[in-house]
Amino acid sequence: MYIWFTVLAGLAILSLPFLKTCFPYFGEDFAYIMRSIQLGARLVKYKKKKPFYSILDCFLDKVKRHPAKTFVHFEGREYSYGEVDKQSNKVARALQAAARLKEGDTVALFLANEPSFIWIWLGLAKLGCPTALLNFNIRSKSLLHCFSCCGAKVIIASAELQDAVEEVLPTLREQGISVYLLSEACSIQGMNTLSDKISQASDQPLSRDLRANIHIRSTALYIYTSGTTGLPKAAVVTHERVWAASFIQAACGVTAEDVFYINLPLYHSAGFLIGMAGGIERGMTIFLRRKFSASQFWDDCRKYNITVMQYIGETMRYLCNTPKKDDEKNHRVRIAIGNGVRTDIWTEFLNRFGDIKVRELYAATEGNIGFINYTSKIGAVGRVNFIHRFFFPYTLIKFNIETEEPVRNSEGLCIEASPGESTGLLVGKITQRSPFIGYAGNKQQTENKRLRDVWKGENVATSEVADILTMAPCILEANVYGVKVEGHEGRIGMAAVILKEGEEFDCSGTYKQVANYLPAYARPRFIRIQASLEMTGTFKMKKVRLVEEGFNPAHIQDSLYFLDPEKKTYIPMTEEIYRAIASREIKL
Ligand SMILES: *[C@@H]1O[C@H](CO)[C@@H](O)[C@H](O)[C@H]1NC(C)=O
Ligand SMILES: *[C@@H]1O[C@H](CO)[C@@H](O)[C@H](O)[C@H]1NC(C)=O
Repeated sequence: MYIWFTVLAGLAILSLPFLKTCFPYFGEDFAYIMRSIQLGARLVKYKKKKPFYSILDCFLDKVKRHPAKTFVHFEGREYSYGEVDKQSNKVARALQAAARLKEGDTVALFLANEPSFIWIWLGLAKLGCPTALLNFNIRSKSLLHCFSCCGAKVIIASAELQDAVEEVLPTLREQGISVYLLSEACSIQGMNTLSDKISQASDQPLSRDLRANIHIRSTALYIYTSGTTGLPKAAVVTHERVWAASFIQAACGVTAEDVFYINLPLYHSAGFLIGMAGGIERGMTIFLRRKFSASQFWDDCRKYNITVMQYIGETMRYLCNTPKKDDEKNHRVRIAIGNGVRTDIWTEFLNRFGDIKVRELYAATEGNIGFINYTSKIGAVGRVNFIHRFFFPYTLIKFNIETEEPVRNSEGLCIEASPGESTGLLVGKITQRSPFIGYAGNKQQTENKRLRDVWKGENVATSEVADILTMAPCILEANVYGVKVEGHEGRIGMAAVILKEGEEFDCSGTYKQVANYLPAYARPRFIRIQASLEMTGTFKMKKVRLVEEGFNPAHIQDSLYFLDPEKKTYIPMTEEIYRAIASREIKL
């Protein structure tokens, strides 16, 4: 390796003009390769280190180095590295005493983006306990499903989610689950308070022996992902994965002096691993927000000297949709890390907000391979250099989007896609270096990893939505899918339903059903009433036809309904509404 890089460095100096012509990304390739090699070497070192050096140990080192430095900035308050450390000691001690937690016990966290998310996780890590990061939008059956598939015996919820927990409390109690509420008082039988116990606990450090058996392949987290089929799945995130993801900031050139803006949910890998854990790895300051706000975004950046932002496709679109202002380029944001931005929005974003280096990533929480676009080429999701290719073999294969299956040749083998083809499926070779860890408690889903369908930046399990719809008294069967709407990224949820014999479609009852059980982004905006399920063709072929037919009342004979969030009910879909959606008077 050493010789290789001496040679490369020599080449770079001797023949820069030549290289610049033949390999326009040579400089970037070189810097990125050097950073990757350094990070790779660190990971190898951590793998061998005894006792195992986890992201928690890294945090404790940063606390020693700069206890007074701000770690988290939240709603006008700053929390230093030292303060967060002490707070996490209190959490660990309170839970150790109250819930008798010990190394290896999984605990589910059910709370929104707030600083306690971070210190509760750190406290649990100090006890050697893996944490399951529940999506705080889920309710009822989904909540129970997510909770039970990680095998947790304890759930910690914020006070504002008390009602959601109360709804499933009887089942949790039946299963002997301990429920803790981040509140000083609670009058509900079977729910324990935690805030009082935390404030009374000592902030003294905890012994490392409590987590003596944790190693690099131990489970650190469960992060929920949902595909197009079935309920959300708990992806097992090992400590090795945590390290790999938290190196992404470093690989993108972020330093300890940067300030990182997190407005994505901490229950997903982007916010938690790349943002927060990456922030710990860099020893930097994080500006945390409860939720993304396009109108506040640049003011926050200016006020808090933010230099690195994180995005999903919608982030940039929403920012580009805000009214133009004179001082738009007046900020210090220099790097944007994320995924899902479209080429046209990317270009517009740079034109409006200035020279920001966009680092587009391609990776999935449970995937075994990832890419970073470190050269800032517009439209590219990543750049692959020869080193990456050697370590992480992958290929793009031909894929039929209608049947959602790879195209196979006469011998039943997949076919490699040619460059320039518009559709392909990325397959990564599963190796020792890039293992596929899979999902918790579900072999079948690990086998059946499928494409994802994105609505508003969230993955929605269509069969879960269908399950919820069929719980409405009037609905017999439901087929849920996403339709493309001009000017909207991702897909908008739609359901074709069959009513029970002799029933009318109950607009307000069905609205109540979806509003009670589904987060806003998963509620079908359009409902199509079908007389009967056609008996020809596979389920998937029918779905393809429904998707194609869309939601234009002028072209569809069946009755159509539209979810009106202001009226809190479904209303009959009219051509007027259709036009208003097309002209974006109605925003979905
Ligand atoms: C931002 O930077 C300016 C100038 O460097 C400094 O005066 C100010 O205190 C900083 N603001 C914050 C919130 O750190
Ligand atoms: C990466 O992103 C930049 C724009 O930020 C772009 O110019 C570059 O072509 C992208 N693609 C690759 C392969 O790096």
